[in-house]
Amino acid sequence: MEVLRAGELVAFPTETVYGVGANASDPSAVRKIFVAKGRPANHPVIVHLDSVRYLHRWVSEVPAAAQQLAERFWPGPLTLVLPRGPNVQDIVTGGQNTIAIRVPSHPMAQQLLTAFGGGIAAPSANRFGRLSPTRAEHVREELGDSVKMILDGGESSIGLESTIVACLDGRVRLLRPGAITLAQIKGLVGEVDVGPAPDSPRVPGSTPAHYAPMTTLELVPIEVLEEQVANLAAAGRKVAVLAMRPPLRAHRNATWINAGKKLETYAHNLYSHLRSLDKVGASRILVQTVPAEDRWEAVRDRLTRAAASSTEPLPEDGAGGVLP
Ligand code: TXA
Ligand code: MG
Repeated sequence: MEVLRAGELVAFPTETVYGVGANASDPSAVRKIFVAKGRPANHPVIVHLDSVRYLHRWVSEVPAAAQQLAERFWPGPLTLVLPRGPNVQDIVTGGQNTIAIRVPSHPMAQQLLTAFGGGIAAPSANRFGRLSPTRAEHVREELGDSVKMILDGGESSIGLESTIVACLDGRVRLLRPGAITLAQIKGLVGEVDVGPAPDSPRVPGSTPAHYAPMTTLELVPIEVLEEQVANLAAAGRKVAVLAMRPPLRAHRNATWINAGKKLETYAHNLYSHLRSLDKVGASRILVQTVPAEDRWEAVRDRLTRAAASSTEPLPEDGAGGVLP
């Protein structure tokens, strides 16, 4: 792949979300990713490989748990954080002594990685802190001409970023929930810690201001959703809604997406739905609270973060006064 060898950026599809990739062995190429994304340079990026065959070039050790997880879930939506190898560039790891590795299953990602032959450093192909792209046109929207080439592989099938699991110091820790669930990981390796450890590697995706649309987003239980829509509409505000069922009555000034109740479909469409709702010029995106079940954890995690980065509070019920 000449574009990558020349130190340029290539955006490519994966089964989770689109990534913006650079030759992971070329620090000046990797630096271009940070510039394109507007991302702080000390944030580590994931190195993508076509299989485990070159894993030893990037890590100093493959703990038994990592071996099991890799055998079971690679290629697929799993990222492993492992002790870094001696020749890995600091810009890839953010200067930490660990490295994140993923083997994606998307055929175009596989072809690209195999043709390139090395590791491709690739974060999600969005501006820092914004919604991850799940289609090629989202990448263009986000990164414009800073990406030399965008490989269009259609919609990402999963639609949420990979599950990140650290295998360090004899412990297994879930750092970011994803399509591969905590239960699946536990089923394979036994005990698993959850969330950032006190001395944990940095995961910018785990800071609150992430995965956010521009419009203020609120999570609202279904019982009060339509009442809130009606109140905002009555106050002359445009409202955008992401719900799991159709509205029971007509609402003026409202754009309503019914994302359905099926987890896989909901996750697959989530970022794309939020992206469209972000464009309707609403003063609020109201998102119906998703089920409390464990298998909804990855969706809940992204929605909670998106809501947490929203600063503006909702107006009092029925407040007709101030327009935003
Ligand atoms: O599904 C995905 O993982 C997508 C596709 C493109 O592969 N990539 C992705 O990359 O989501 P990014 O950079 O948006 O998120 C990767 C996360 C970041 O939060 C980063 O901090 C974390 O992985 N990460 C990278 N290296 C790490 C390390 N050594 N220790 C802990 N976390 C690390
Ligand atoms: Mg990201």
